[in-house]
This record gives sequence, structure tokens and C-alpha cells, in this order.
Amino acid sequence: MSATILDGKRMSAELRAGLAGRVEALKRQGITPGLAVILVGQDPASEIYVRNKENGCAEIGVYSRTARMPEETTQEELEAQIEAFNRDERIHGILVQLPLPAHLDEQRALACVLPEKDVDGFHLVNAGHMLTGTPGVVACTPRGALHMIRQTGLALSGLEAVVVGRSNIVGKPMAMLLLQENCTVTLCHSRTRNLAEHTRRADILVVAVGKAGFITGDMVKPGAVVIDVGINRVDGKVRGDVDFDTVSEVAGWITPVPGGVGRMTITMLLENTVEAAEKRTHGC
Ligand code: GUN
Repeated sequence: MSATILDGKRMSAELRAGLAGRVEALKRQGITPGLAVILVGQDPASEIYVRNKENGCAEIGVYSRTARMPEETTQEELEAQIEAFNRDERIHGILVQLPLPAHLDEQRALACVLPEKDVDGFHLVNAGHMLTGTPGVVACTPRGALHMIRQTGLALSGLEAVVVGRSNIVGKPMAMLLLQENCTVTLCHSRTRNLAEHTRRADILVVAVGKAGFITGDMVKPGAVVIDVGINRVDGKVRGDVDFDTVSEVAGWITPVPGGVGRMTITMLLENTVEAAEKRTHGC
């Protein structure tokens, strides 16, 4: 293996230590940052994410509430729960765990979250900030991925960045963040022709497609930064979208799964929550 591991566990530990200090400072002013998570139904992967979020809050001293709602929850009941957290003074951040059951309208639900409590960065107001490069809440996974890319020490301006996957949660906001860093950005997706021709040009390759081992060593430029956003369960094991064994022989840097981007996503959620509490307290 030649690639340097970008260690999400270590980076998260450093960032969380800093966040715990900021939480302490807020508590001295009588404010405890609060995060509310709404989980509808019993998707096993979502259950794990939500538990990790609760543990992350406990680790740095953030107040955490989880509203577990049954699978058959109606749109009106979901929106009423969001409104209740919007009004709750103890809550600075609200996260509606996705995916929602198919009968619920995701976009309508996300639009109910107050933009200043939208710690996911999914509200249209924050998505608009992302598009225009103006200050707003930045989606957690792309924010964490960019932090990891910066740890390489590379000057990002002018580099070729290729993002594979065009989801609203990861691919699109990731492309916008890399564009703000003055990368030349290509956004690939399921209809892209000759995918490997694109990925082989990438100095920075971010993969978020949800297919285990999808990117192999022959698709990667030697020395590239490879960021694996995938979390796939295969035979009881967690695997990324990148075939670690072959890609780590070619890449310059690589994120592991587990212990990579997933961990950073939770850390960035905590950071967005602490920031939301600081903004409400100091008004900046
Ligand atoms: N489901 C998978 N990832 C995420 C995330 O970052 N936020 C929310 N709300 N749901 C998710």
C-alpha cells in the first residue's frame, strides 16, 4: 500500500475536543446547545446513524432529543413534530433522518425546519447559500470530506476534482464546495459515459454512489486524493464504494471505511449544532 490514510477517527477526536471547549464556554453563559433528531420508521441503517449522533452529543456535552415516530406517521404529524422543535428554545439544531418512508414528502418536511436550526444544510435557503457561496449551514458530509481533503496540505486551486454521485445530500453540495475552492469540477452520475475516463483525470476523487467496491485501482490517477463516502453492508461487514485494496496501491491519500467520512459527518453535525447555538447567543 502506498497511499496515506486520512484518519477520520483521529481528525474527529481533535475536532470534538475543540467543540467540547466551545460547549463549555456556552454553558458558562447559561446555554446548552441542543440537537433534535426525528426518526420515522425502523430503517436499521438509520437506527445506527441516530445512535452515533446521540453518542456524539453525549461525548461533547450537547443536549440531545430523539423523536422516534412510527412507520405510519402522516405528513401532518411529522410537520407538527418539526414545528414543535422549531419553537423549543432548548433546541438549536433539528435533523430529520433520511430516507423517510415512501409515503412522506421529504422536500416538504425539510422546508418546515427553520433555516437557522437546519444543521443538515438541506433547507432550500441553505442549499441556495451553498450554490451562491454565501454564508449558510454547510451539509455535514461534504463539509467533513472537504476538511479531510484539506488535511493533505495540497493547494486545491486549479486541481481536477471528480465527484461520482449526484445526490442532494452529498454529490451536488460536494461539487459546489470544491468549486468554491477553485477546483475544476466534474460531476459524474449513473448516466455518465466512460466513467473511468473521468475518474482517471481526478486529482481529487469523491465517491458517493452506494455500491460496494465500485471504484477500482485502474480507475484512479496515481497520487490522487480518494474520498470514499460509501457505507455498504456486505456479508455483515461495512464496505465503502472504493475497493480499498487496489485503490490504496495507486492513490496518494485515501479515506478508510469505517473510520473515515462517516465519523466526520457526525462531527460536522455537532459543529453545525454548536455554531447554531453560538449564533443564537452572540447573534453573529
Ligand atoms: N441519512 C443518511 N445520511 C444523512 C444525513 O447526513 N442527514 C440526514 N438527515 N439523513 C441522512
